[in-house]
Amino acid sequence: MKVLSSLIPPILAATCCAIATDAAKVSAFHPLQLSLGQLVNQQEFDLIREDFLNALSQDGLFTIRDIPDLHKQSVLEAMQPCINKAKATQEHTLRDGTRRRTLATHTSPGGRTAEGIRKPSVPSDDQVHCQGFVDASERFRAAAGVATNAFASRLASVLRTVEDGRPADAEAGDRRRRRPLLATRDGHAFEDFLDVVKNGDHLEHFHSYHTPVSPSSSSNFGKTTDDTIEWHVDQGLFIVFTPGTLVREDPSSAAGSTIQGLTDGFYVRLSDGSTVEVEFSNEDDLVILLGDGFNQYINPHYQDTDAPLLRAAPHALSMIPHQADESRVWYGRMVLPPVMAIHPVHDETFGRLRDMVVDKDTPEDEVIAVACSSSAQARELQTTTCEAGTLLCWHDCMSLEEHGVSEDICTQQGLDLWCINPRGQLWDNTHGDFFPGCIDASKAENATEFPRLPNYPRDNVTACTAETFQRFLQDNQESAYDHSVDLDGVAVFEWTVLENNVIRGRLAYDGLFGYLALGIPSVGGGKNGMHGAEIIMAIPGGNYDAAVGFDLTIPPSINEYVIDPEKSSFRFWDTPVSIGTNVSESSARNTMGDGYAIAYDDCFTAITFESTGFHGKPFNVSGSDHFIWAANDEDYFAAYHTQRGHIYVNWLSGEASDHHDHDHADDGGHEEEEPTTVEPPVSAPVASSSFVATTTGANAFAFGLILLLLIHL
Ligand SMILES: *[C@@H]1O[C@H](CO)[C@@H](O)[C@H](O)[C@H]1NC(C)=O
Ligand SMILES: *[C@@H]1O[C@H](CO)[C@@H](O)[C@H](O)[C@H]1NC(C)=O
Ligand SMILES: *[C@@H]1O[C@H](CO)[C@@H](O)[C@H](O)[C@H]1NC(C)=O
Ligand SMILES: *[C@@H]1O[C@H](CO)[C@@H](O)[C@H](O)[C@H]1NC(C)=O
Repeated sequence: MKVLSSLIPPILAATCCAIATDAAKVSAFHPLQLSLGQLVNQQEFDLIREDFLNALSQDGLFTIRDIPDLHKQSVLEAMQPCINKAKATQEHTLRDGTRRRTLATHTSPGGRTAEGIRKPSVPSDDQVHCQGFVDASERFRAAAGVATNAFASRLASVLRTVEDGRPADAEAGDRRRRRPLLATRDGHAFEDFLDVVKNGDHLEHFHSYHTPVSPSSSSNFGKTTDDTIEWHVDQGLFIVFTPGTLVREDPSSAAGSTIQGLTDGFYVRLSDGSTVEVEFSNEDDLVILLGDGFNQYINPHYQDTDAPLLRAAPHALSMIPHQADESRVWYGRMVLPPVMAIHPVHDETFGRLRDMVVDKDTPEDEVIAVACSSSAQARELQTTTCEAGTLLCWHDCMSLEEHGVSEDICTQQGLDLWCINPRGQLWDNTHGDFFPGCIDASKAENATEFPRLPNYPRDNVTACTAETFQRFLQDNQESAYDHSVDLDGVAVFEWTVLENNVIRGRLAYDGLFGYLALGIPSVGGGKNGMHGAEIIMAIPGGNYDAAVGFDLTIPPSINEYVIDPEKSSFRFWDTPVSIGTNVSESSARNTMGDGYAIAYDDCFTAITFESTGFHGKPFNVSGSDHFIWAANDEDYFAAYHTQRGHIYVNWLSGEASDHHDHDHADDGGHEEEEPTTVEPPVSAPVASSSFVATTTGANAFAFGLILLLLIHL
């Protein structure tokens, strides 16, 4: 049902473009075709590696076939009846009079619905026309996701190879330490292209184009004013799409429409400057087309390596005349960088840049500066705002109904509708736990940092040193552990395998006690298994309230919890799932209870366990286990981690590591890390206004910059 989200996500495909000047001779172009197997299997890939790189550097596009379970035709057939009737459909008239109707959705990092977005209910009248589409599209979108990741994984592995080949002195002599491709403000690294794609925003649109029959719409390519969509390159990393397909309404068919075949009218400009019309094949395939992100931050990142310059492909669409009962249907998945990642040039998060681009108040030259790599000089901008019933909050259009508020409800209370956090503060474009709520905006303050722990900052010069950490470890154990592993230099995990599959273990953290948690990630759970994870967590107080944090007059406790399957914030899962050990007042500073215990002082924190598993989930004592852990040493709100990591333990061999030894070159099963404990939802606002800006300056060619709203081909 996600497709029919009332939170129509977004839109913003800002595009930058050079307007075609000469379209005299147009020849047919057949893009490189690869099978998914050729992309994924190393040996098969080695045979076509050169072709692959040539296609990306010369053309900027190629196609992937043999994608299991794609069946794109069944989705394209089923979408027309739904798009005609669904309330969620957005409509836009393009420059040549073509009417484009759109259903939008998105896939968020970890493949789950983003935080704050519940599964929308499909209005009953939509259900009749859309059920077939919804069913078919779920499967199709998953298959498109597989192809997206396969491409990202392959390109990441190719780029890694060239990066590792760079001169040894380029990165402080350590060839293995690569500079992350992108990072967040608080230092979380998106290591490589795959990491960026997997944690990026995937905006998905189903478009249906219908051009009213008129004399002027006949064969008009080259007269740029008549192109349906002008020449441009897409914003973002790349787009995955189905070649435009003509469908005819057909009430007698089960799907409601029948496929008439591929449509012409899609043009690209190749690296030799030639303009060609793309002839796609009749395979059940998807097209990958690179976007302006390659110009802006991918190519520059690899400039000191042997990596080829990869090419954002300029393209345009000119609708081919069709019958009144026919439409051109299309699916596209635009892959944008993670919302919280920082743009290396603009020093702003991609989420913030996106907000700026869609904000009508942003001066035009600023929009051009942030949106595009080229020195483009004119633009046509269609900005976006949130549709009725939603509010722009944390880079997303959040549903008011789901948060139990509306403009009216707030007005009745003499308050304003605003994007706020649990502490009654206003959203300040940073990340955190924000949602639509009623507040007196004139009195409310912007979001501030959390109040600190009473003993923060710790004395890390004399009291809290490496030596005293060792002493803390010694003093707080009954007997030594058999095995131990250092975790990123900030924590230690130690264990002994006892009889009957019991593990005696300890996670000791070189930091103050804000909280400390250790758990087993949930297979397939969002945020790489954090959502739905079964964990033990030590908290420094009680009576948790997201507005005021823990009541520190209540003694600490350690309990089992299950993290909410969709929502990261502690307030959504702060009830323990089993009674653990409450730490009594008298021994609050060092308690060994049954099962779980906490030890802490004004420098360090440790949790211990003696158990066969967490929350009934047994340790894999005859093999190995993967744990995630997180800690906060600053505040008592359990809203963020200040440290987190992974632990991979082989109980049998007694070996462990804080990173997975993996060759993520060709399996697509790359182990990425969760970006942050609290992460913004992905998606931006929906269309509302548009304007055309003036052209300044004179170039030999008329360069134009178009910021177009929907992804469009
Ligand atoms: C809050 O931040 C915004 C910019 O994000 C600024 O315009 C506004 O003046 C700030 N308000 C207060 C009360 O500081
Ligand atoms: C000591 O604490 C201060 C303040 O929290 C911090 O800026 C500094 O990096 C710390 N030094 C070490 C060695 O951890
Ligand atoms: C721990 O304290 C909570 C209240 O803070 C109580 O509900 C729970 O039963 C206690 N558990 C034990 C084992 O005493
Ligand atoms: C247990 O560990 C073995 C060895 O690493 C692994 O192959 C197996 O998949 C693990 N089982 C579970 C249930 O995690």
